Amino acid sequence: MAYKNESEEVFDSIAEHFDRTRRTPWKEVVDFLDTLKGDVLDLCCGNGRHCCSAVERGLNTVGLDVSEELLKIAKKNCPEAFFIRGDARYLPIKDETFDAVLYIAGIHHLREGRVRSLRECERVLRPGGRLLVSSWSKYADRWDLGEDERDVMVPWTRDDGVVFQRYYHLYTLEELEGEVIKAHLTVEDTFSSGENNYVVGVRGG
Ligand SMILES: C[S@@+](CC[C@H](N)C(=O)[O-])C[C@H]1O[C@@H](n2cnc3c(N)ncnc32)[C@H](O)[C@@H]1O
Repeated sequence: MAYKNESEEVFDSIAEHFDRTRRTPWKEVVDFLDTLKGDVLDLCCGNGRHCCSAVERGLNTVGLDVSEELLKIAKKNCPEAFFIRGDARYLPIKDETFDAVLYIAGIHHLREGRVRSLRECERVLRPGGRLLVSSWSKYADRWDLGEDERDVMVPWTRDDGVVFQRYYHLYTLEELEGEVIKAHLTVEDTFSSGENNYVVGVRGG
């Protein structure tokens, strides 16, 4: 693959530390997985923690991420899943391949092409297939942002003290819902939990 993007470099550099500190699957994701059958894509899968939860529930699971180092770790963490390297905005996947897509804490790292990535989710879902997308919330207590401010750089201090900056686009729940609608998905549910916004979208048939 020819491209090298900002997220890839940062997540490659923090992959091992990220893996040691991001082991527990999120309850909201596990609850969604419990409603599924069939084939699942974990988009921006990171270290594969949610791929493991999907496999444990008997789902055929594919993880996709741009970070080669995180994919190496995900393969070790979850050998039963299949992993591919790619960009969330240009999925190397045929139309109508999956019954569900998880897109957890990934969309907010894209400086551009966020709606495009949701349209890719719609494209690879089968009719009636469901997307769970989450993003960090603009209204989380930690931020002190102006009304129109959305884009921030957030430091990650690796355990050896080296600091890396990660780009985030902080969403309101309404904005995330609006982008799911722009991707031609029907909104089934929206909710906030902790510092995150979630939208469930369904592909029409
Ligand atoms: C905060 S992590 C979330 C990982 C995982 N979804 C989880 O919940 O643990 C964000 C992930 O998005 C990936 N990522 C960022 N930009 C991406 C892109 N354009 N295409 C694919 N993956 C991307 C990063 O490499 C990283 O693994």
